[in-house]
Order: sequence, then C-alpha cells, then structure tokens
Amino acid sequence: MLKEVNDLDLVNDLSDYKVSFNEFDKVLGFFIDDTIVGFLDYSVIYDRMEINYIYVLEKHRKKGIGYQLLKYVIDNYSYDITLEVNVNNIVAINLYKKLDFKIVAIREKYYNGIDGYLMERRIL
Ligand SMILES: CC(C)(COP(=O)(O)OP(=O)(O)OC[C@H]1O[C@@H](n2cnc3c(N)ncnc32)[C@H](O)[C@@H]1OP(=O)(O)O)[C@@H](O)C(=O)NCCC(=O)NCCS
Repeated sequence: MLKEVNDLDLVNDLSDYKVSFNEFDKVLGFFIDDTIVGFLDYSVIYDRMEINYIYVLEKHRKKGIGYQLLKYVIDNYSYDITLEVNVNNIVAINLYKKLDFKIVAIREKYYNGIDGYLMERRIL
C-alpha cells in the first residue's frame, strides 16, 4: 500500500540515500504489512516536480513497486516531471522510459565522473 511518509528514520534506514526534508520535499512509501519496502523522494516546486530518488529493497524488486510509486505521483499531480539518472543505471532508465520519460540532455560527469541523463516527462 502507498502512503505518505513523515518519519524520515523509516526511509533513511532502508538505503545509503538519506532524505533531508525541505519545504518542497515529500516522500511516498510502499508498505507491505505495515513494513516499508520502498520509497519515492520527490519535490513539488510550484508547478513542476523533481524526482530526487526512488528505491525498492532488493528482495522486493521486479514486482512493480517502483512503477506504482512513480505512477501514483504522475496520476496525482498534473505537472511536468524531471529527474537525473546515471547513464549506466539501465534498470532505472527502463522504468522511467516505461512511464514516458524522455532523455532531454546529458549532464557530463554528474555522478563522480560518470555522465547522467536529464530525463523529463511532459504532461501528455
Ligand atoms: C530502480 C528500481 C527503483 C526499480 O524498482 P522495481 O520495483 O524493481 O521496478 P518495477 O518492478 O516496478 O519495474 C518497472 C520497470 O522497470 C524496468 N526494470 C525493473 N527491473 C529491471 C531489470 N532488472 N532489468 C531491466 N529493467 C528493469 C522495466 O522496464 C520494468 O518494467 P517491466 O517489468 O514491464 O519490464 C529498483 O531497481 C531500485 O531500487 N534500484 C536501486 C536504486 C536506484 O537505482 N534508484 C534509481 C536512482 S535514479
């Protein structure tokens, strides 16, 4: 089940990625039997959205959870969405493409010397 998360310890214990809230930041969690197994960290900045990070615990991957997390924000906000992704992260790039994100620019050496893609999903 999808639920907004306000307790940051819940998500910060899941992976190396640490969420630090600011006034634009939101976290959506995916729960199985009240246990969080994945989350989406995103910012709503006036009339656009930025995806900061998405993560699903390894043993729960490939079950559509990442897809559901992203689909929820796509369906609930009518905003253009942008994100950056490491060019080598084929799994994440596939997920974003499946949800109609397009590569719009290359961010050179964005990830410790490795290029990133800027991807964008425009309101259809
Ligand atoms: C990226 C991530 C969130 C995907 O979560 P997930 O719940 O496993 O993804 P889903 O099961 O919803 O898969 C949706 C789509 O993603 C792509 N995908 C997922 N796993 C994949 C894999 N192992 N190989 C290739 N494509 C894959 C596919 O397009 C898939 O659609 P399909 O099942 O119709 O083929 C997860 O792999 C993860 O947490 N990775 C580590 C963190 C990370 O890299 N985050 C992205 C930072 S930008």
